Amino acid sequence: MSKITYIDEVAIKNKTVLLRVDYNISLNKDLTIADDARIKQSLPTINYLLEKNNRLILISHLDRPKEKDQRFSLKPVVKHLQNLLPNFKVYLVDDFLAEKNQKIFQEQTTKEILVLENIRFYPEEKKGDEEFAKKLASLGDVFVNDAFAVCHRTDASVVAISKFLPSYGGLLLKKEITTISKTIKNPKKPVVAIIGGAKISTKLPLLYRLIELADYLLIGGGLANTFFCAQDLEIGQSFCEYEQISAARKLLFHAAQKKTAVVLPSDVIVSNSTNTRNGGLAKKIDEIPKGAVILDIGPQTQAQFGSIITKAKTIIWNGPVGYFENPAFRNGTDFIYYSITQNNNATTIVGGGDTLAAISKKEYIDKITHISTGGGAMLEFIEKGTLPGIEALKK
Ligand code: 3PG
Repeated sequence: MSKITYIDEVAIKNKTVLLRVDYNISLNKDLTIADDARIKQSLPTINYLLEKNNRLILISHLDRPKEKDQRFSLKPVVKHLQNLLPNFKVYLVDDFLAEKNQKIFQEQTTKEILVLENIRFYPEEKKGDEEFAKKLASLGDVFVNDAFAVCHRTDASVVAISKFLPSYGGLLLKKEITTISKTIKNPKKPVVAIIGGAKISTKLPLLYRLIELADYLLIGGGLANTFFCAQDLEIGQSFCEYEQISAARKLLFHAAQKKTAVVLPSDVIVSNSTNTRNGGLAKKIDEIPKGAVILDIGPQTQAQFGSIITKAKTIIWNGPVGYFENPAFRNGTDFIYYSITQNNNATTIVGGGDTLAAISKKEYIDKITHISTGGGAMLEFIEKGTLPGIEALKK
């Protein structure tokens, strides 16, 4: 059976290594880094390869630029990386295809780390273009993929590139695949999945997979509203994917057949506006006023979700359960976080950009077994058990 070879299972020494990382991080308005978790999580692989006297060329995307646009430059990342790796000189290569820059590659020393400018500045990247991948590959001797978070994409620097070079998995990729696989293949029961976020449409296949996997599926956030509508409940002015109502009904039916308990909020916090500072009012789910907007789960739901989380042996969490960006509506998400971290008997996997934004910098973060760097990638991996970027590495 074909499998991935990870960098700690093979001798990669004195080589030029093309290392795909995912530095798609959030930046502040002044272009400083808001959250460097993905950068820090790539350091074990970087250091491992540097210790073996390799020259590193880093490849990453940042956001979804339509064209070359300095707002999406990796400059802030390079600056931060330089601080984290003071014994090396970190350079940004503005265009790896430009004739003027070829000397930089030819003269690279083991004390220099090169970072290619946002790979999505090239339209060929998203197209998975093989000719482009070949040009990228020509810069190095081996390819290492440590970018789990983008492995659900078929981009050139994720998939096609591995056709042209000996290709390996990095240490972060190994950790993500091993931990998540172990948890979903042989989970200790009861398994509790908590899914929030806005849209059911993007999460349907995942929800079906979770129904197979979990004993309890706790649903919050905008996602829950579509289920409320599926039960003909009034949701006022709240967000709902009306075209998904019948899909939500089918899913509830499927869960009942599989004997998975789908737990929807029994009360919620409502307000007339998302701007309120003082918070909203708790309302039972069958008492939502016509003009109201649902912005968080209510106290009764917190208690109910909390008691299920306390009994769990395996917990999978993706997506905040309320409008957490406003402190007035983040109580539900905070409560879930604390319930999870107080359960010392469970293996816990948490992922998703918004979820991480809601919990990073919090106390007890080390109580979570695995914080995945992947959002969409983690969900698709749970759903399918593999990803295009993972398959491309298998030999
Ligand atoms: C992510 O942040 O989920 C990855 O970097 C993938 O980004 P994308 O959704 O823009 O492909």
